[in-house]
Amino acid sequence: MKEILVTGGAGYIGSHVVKMLAERGYHPIVFDSLENGFAEFVKGHELVVGDIGDYDLLVDVFRKRKIVCVMNFASYIAVGESMQLPLKYYTNNVAKTLNLFRAMIECEVKRFIFSSTAAVYGYPEKVPIQEDAMLFPINPYGRTKLMIEQVLRDLDAASGMKFIALRYFNAAGADPSGEIGESHTPETHLIPLVLRSILEDEYTITVFGTDYRTHDGTCIRDYIHVNDLADAHILALEALLAEKESAVYNLGNGRGFTVREVIDAVRRATGKKPKVKEGPRRPGDPDVLVASSEKAMKKLGWKPKMAELETIVETAWNWERQRRRKGW
Ligand code: UFG
Repeated sequence: MKEILVTGGAGYIGSHVVKMLAERGYHPIVFDSLENGFAEFVKGHELVVGDIGDYDLLVDVFRKRKIVCVMNFASYIAVGESMQLPLKYYTNNVAKTLNLFRAMIECEVKRFIFSSTAAVYGYPEKVPIQEDAMLFPINPYGRTKLMIEQVLRDLDAASGMKFIALRYFNAAGADPSGEIGESHTPETHLIPLVLRSILEDEYTITVFGTDYRTHDGTCIRDYIHVNDLADAHILALEALLAEKESAVYNLGNGRGFTVREVIDAVRRATGKKPKVKEGPRRPGDPDVLVASSEKAMKKLGWKPKMAELETIVETAWNWERQRRRKGW
């Protein structure tokens, strides 16, 4: 069985990828500091508790095992926090990731799948956004991801490290089993917060900005189910195992929904009324982010299976209720 090292595999997206890797006949080895991940999400797969800044531990794992590819989900993801604490982001998302590359090169592990982001585009000039659009991130988080994409190109040229960078749009939803899902502290993402406004008496969701240049004045985003993202990782892995060239792909559904439309989808999916108030814009939010994922569809054969916003929300709702029952 082919062994895949999944750093950050105990987190939200990583744990969904780990589950799918095992289902598709791979052997995932989770490498996670558990700072933001949960051992419970690993579900009996192999877990090495460690930090990607720990060179010796990484080399030890690479030497003892036969890892054919690394998938890296071990990064900080909160845009707002990255503006307050840029060094935290540059240290983890850049410096420690370089450390991971150093260990990989030392041990001749030469395939890498990278979690990149729509944040590398900043304020896009046109939507849907294609991969060759201008890259101009407007926050440290987006800059850390762009820097690693650039490093990967250089490593490919210098040491033959083959990579696929996947630029996620808005990851959402949960595995339909309800066993794993989104859980961030603090939570900043729209769908879990709208659900919270239903489940917690004292919580009201704030709509950040109602004067955007969109049909109802609120921001438009492209929400993509986490298992569709996971599926793209398996296809990317298969492409690298088939010795395909390094590449960058957008991953989104190609359809945008406003914040108000998401709130409405939550109302329909749950049959309950979210508590909503309006507030000012959140700094750094572009009006519209919608992906063109034509390239991933054409080159990887990727096709989202849970594209309907209501389905995405239903799986998030299912998870949110189970999570609370378990006290996570
Ligand atoms: N929003 C609200 N109220 C909230 C939370 C969010 O109105 O309480 C709005 C935001 O302003 C935005 C939309 O809901 O318009 C989605 O916001 P999220 O915070 O859920 O997601 P983002 O679009 O900000 O961020 C996501 C990923 C980031 C990635 C970014 C790329 O979570 O990691 O997309 O642009 F960088």
